[in-house]
Amino acid sequence: MVRRSCRGAKWVSLVVLIFALFATILGEDGLISNGDFETPPAGGFSSEGVADGPTSIPSWRSNGTVELVQSGQRQGGMILVVPEGTHAVRLGNDAEISQELTLEKGAMYSVTFSAARTCAQLESLNVSIPPASHSIDLQTLYNIQGWDPYAVSFEVEDDRTKLVFKNPGMEDDPTCGPIIDDIAIKKLFTPDRPKDNAVVNGDFEEGPWMFRNTTLGVLLPTNLDEEISSLPGWIVESNRAVRYIDSYHFSVPQGKRAVELLSGKEGIISQMVETKADKDYQLTFSLGHANDKCKQPLAVMAFAGDQAQNIHYAPNSNSTFQGATVNFTAKAERTRVAFYSVYYNTRTDDMSSLCGPVVDDVRVWFSAAWRNAYGGLFGVGIGFWALLLVLV
Ligand SMILES: *[C@@H]1O[C@H](CO)[C@@H](O)[C@H](O)[C@H]1NC(C)=O
Ligand SMILES: *[C@@H]1O[C@H](CO)[C@@H](O)[C@H](O)[C@H]1NC(C)=O
Ligand SMILES: *[C@@H]1O[C@H](CO)[C@@H](O)[C@H](O)[C@H]1NC(C)=O
Ligand SMILES: *[C@@H]1O[C@H](CO)[C@@H](O)[C@H](O)[C@H]1NC(C)=O
Ligand SMILES: *[C@@H]1O[C@H](CO)[C@@H](O)[C@H](O)[C@H]1NC(C)=O
Repeated sequence: MVRRSCRGAKWVSLVVLIFALFATILGEDGLISNGDFETPPAGGFSSEGVADGPTSIPSWRSNGTVELVQSGQRQGGMILVVPEGTHAVRLGNDAEISQELTLEKGAMYSVTFSAARTCAQLESLNVSIPPASHSIDLQTLYNIQGWDPYAVSFEVEDDRTKLVFKNPGMEDDPTCGPIIDDIAIKKLFTPDRPKDNAVVNGDFEEGPWMFRNTTLGVLLPTNLDEEISSLPGWIVESNRAVRYIDSYHFSVPQGKRAVELLSGKEGIISQMVETKADKDYQLTFSLGHANDKCKQPLAVMAFAGDQAQNIHYAPNSNSTFQGATVNFTAKAERTRVAFYSVYYNTRTDDMSSLCGPVVDDVRVWFSAAWRNAYGGLFGVGIGFWALLLVLV
């Protein structure tokens, strides 16, 4: 017995080893090589900071004025923001850094990174896995800390590919330019549509990489392509971002992940769900408070087909969320379901960090589903007693 289980264990470890090897070859989810810029360059971190040559930052190639900045470093009267750890990079005018990655051709990936702007000017970042690129506007401060994690997604067209961060700016002051840190990658999968729910990823459990100790959630900027979304199934159809939050640092109604809606009407998520024309449906979801000191009142505008309903957050007793329902009649084979925050909320402690209502567990199903569900339970009950009788 013992020997057999021992041999079994060996097989298991061999299989695990093979999988681990495979995962390493294909690249694992999480921080990319020196994605936190904490690996010292060959000569150590210099006080000058400016990368000396295109390969001086370990694992990266750079072009243009790329500077390793240190937490506490001052520039003018300002202390530079380093999102995590003690180092980050700053991209000067038209400067870029890139890293070669081995990914799976044809797969979807989400890239998470932290970014801060340094000057008040319009600052933006161009993040690309060529030929696809995203332009991230760093003008809006969502957070009083001065930086935020963001996620963008790509369909990868080649096994060997490059991840590029570029500052497209041409500021008068060449020391202005975004600071980036904590770059991670995650292969995305689109969850199957559940049997009794027309919404894909309605529980928001599948999404971009989040560091376990990131307390700020991850911003999901505008993304109109439902096929390539950091939040599979959903699009962010507004100019502003929404925040993807985790249960380690926020109150989440169900599971580990949810979405916090920010900036009123300027933060909209939506999904086109499959429906049958002229049938009655019910949209249900959880509406919650993230427990992030967000100033109430909180409310969402929920859309389903031609229905729009303003739902205020007013949970029972000590709960941090409540259930909400919108009844609608589908008019076509596809129906748009969408949410935005009715108010423009900020936190009570700093009066400026953006926050808002939490949406989770979104379901769309036939209005009569409850009858079938109870009917089903009844059937199972009968079957159970019948089986018991037979056994006895
Ligand atoms: C560096 O950037 C400049 C300007 O964008 C470009 O002309 C040049 O080809 C780049 N060099 C490399 C090695 O990529
Ligand atoms: C971003 O960079 C890519 C290539 O690096 C370029 O093709 C694309 O036009 C740029 N996008 C913007 C908005 O600047
Ligand atoms: C977050 O976790 C990573 C590794 O898991 C660690 O290197 C880093 O120092 C942590 N950051 C903070 C701010 O605790
Ligand atoms: C609500 O919370 C308070 C204090 O945390 C507790 O005393 C009270 O029993 C709770 N009420 C319910 C209905 O759970
Ligand atoms: C939705 O319809 C159900 C019956 O199908 C009804 O019980 C419920 O009160 C309706 N909800 C709303 C918000 O109109």
